[in-house]
Amino acid sequence: MRIGVAKEIKAQEYRVALTPAGARELVLQGHEVLVESGAGAGSSFADAEYEATGARIVYVDEVWERAELLLKVKEPIASEYGRLREELILFTYLHIAADEPLTRALTESGVAAVAYETVETDDRRLPLLAPMSEVAGRLAAQAGAHYLERPRGGRGLLLGGVAGVAPGKVVVIGGGIVGYNAAVIALGLGAQVTILERSVDRMRHLEEILHGRVSLMMSSSLQIEASVADADVVIGAVLIPGALAPKLLTRETVAGMKDGSVFCDVAIDQGGCAATSRATTHDDPVYDVDGVIHYCVANMPGAVPITSTKALTNVTLPYVEAIAEHGLVEAVSRDPALARGVNVLDGRITYEAVAEAHGLDFTPLEDVLGAAA
Ligand SMILES: NC(=O)c1ccc[n+]([C@@H]2O[C@H](COP(=O)([O-])OP(=O)(O)OC[C@H]3O[C@@H](n4cnc5c(N)ncnc54)[C@H](O)[C@@H]3O)[C@@H](O)[C@H]2O)c1
Repeated sequence: MRIGVAKEIKAQEYRVALTPAGARELVLQGHEVLVESGAGAGSSFADAEYEATGARIVYVDEVWERAELLLKVKEPIASEYGRLREELILFTYLHIAADEPLTRALTESGVAAVAYETVETDDRRLPLLAPMSEVAGRLAAQAGAHYLERPRGGRGLLLGGVAGVAPGKVVVIGGGIVGYNAAVIALGLGAQVTILERSVDRMRHLEEILHGRVSLMMSSSLQIEASVADADVVIGAVLIPGALAPKLLTRETVAGMKDGSVFCDVAIDQGGCAATSRATTHDDPVYDVDGVIHYCVANMPGAVPITSTKALTNVTLPYVEAIAEHGLVEAVSRDPALARGVNVLDGRITYEAVAEAHGLDFTPLEDVLGAAA
């Protein structure tokens, strides 16, 4: 198959959808790989590194026009809509339930659109979202340590303490992928860590894998109030699948936190878990409410594109290989997780939540495939 890798043109996006290592695997499997010139630059991969794998460096028109499977990181933006076409398989993060113009552009163009974020295993894991949660969780602990420093506006406390001086206290609300990774790094920095969770099973698992090195507490509004009042860093890491984040910290709870403490709301991309949260950017990441530094960057992994690109492509490559080897129709019939990733096919919306979000018709994937057969 002819596989294209487009350069991301959305503002502040430095990731690329395929590393030179991934390109080499695809070339070795007999595929043709076209990489848009400069596509890897934001992640420190030069064109020459791709060329050395046997991939070809091409201009933007060629990558979009000649690819049979086009790999991207972010959804196409308006200036790219005209490039969508029949016979093209687009594999990328799409998030189209929140984007009606793009949904229409995809259906009207006849492109086959497969979304990273809806690839879902039978046990309900989202394998192509998980690595970004790992990155964001780890960064959150680092951001907490950084903004606790006095010149950054924080209390002026070293998270790890030193011999004879107590470490700082980190409270993580939500012990999923983000929460676990935040806890691991906070522990590594020497902090005293508490995780508040709602699922007892998840707490049992965390206790086991963290060898009892964190305090695990049942999450309740009373416990949250008490824990955050005593914390130096609070990390919001909750998720209720398919819903906005619950507002677990009221304005009064935030006001009850220590002066110069740091609240890092990773759940901000789902609206945030505090009444005081609003999305920020890497250019201007923090603001102050009642003496509490709020770090609420909605695309945290964007700060570390080298790591994020590698983590993302590690998990996307097996799906790319499957589509390239078997073609989309055969690949989705072999793998129900990949089938759940198909959002638009032959002008039909095949992902129910997307159709519902826009009040448009939903056609089950099997029906579209059956009609095409
Ligand atoms: N800002 C960013 O750049 C960025 C990047 C990646 C993920 N995220 C967001 O981080 C959040 C967490 O993602 P994840 O992958 O860790 O999800 P996850 O599903 O792995 O974990 C969420 C956890 O929250 C727990 N939870 C739910 N309600 C709770 C409550 N009231 N109190 C305590 N715990 C509760 C769940 O039991 C679960 O263990 C999501 O909102 C996700 O969108 C943000």
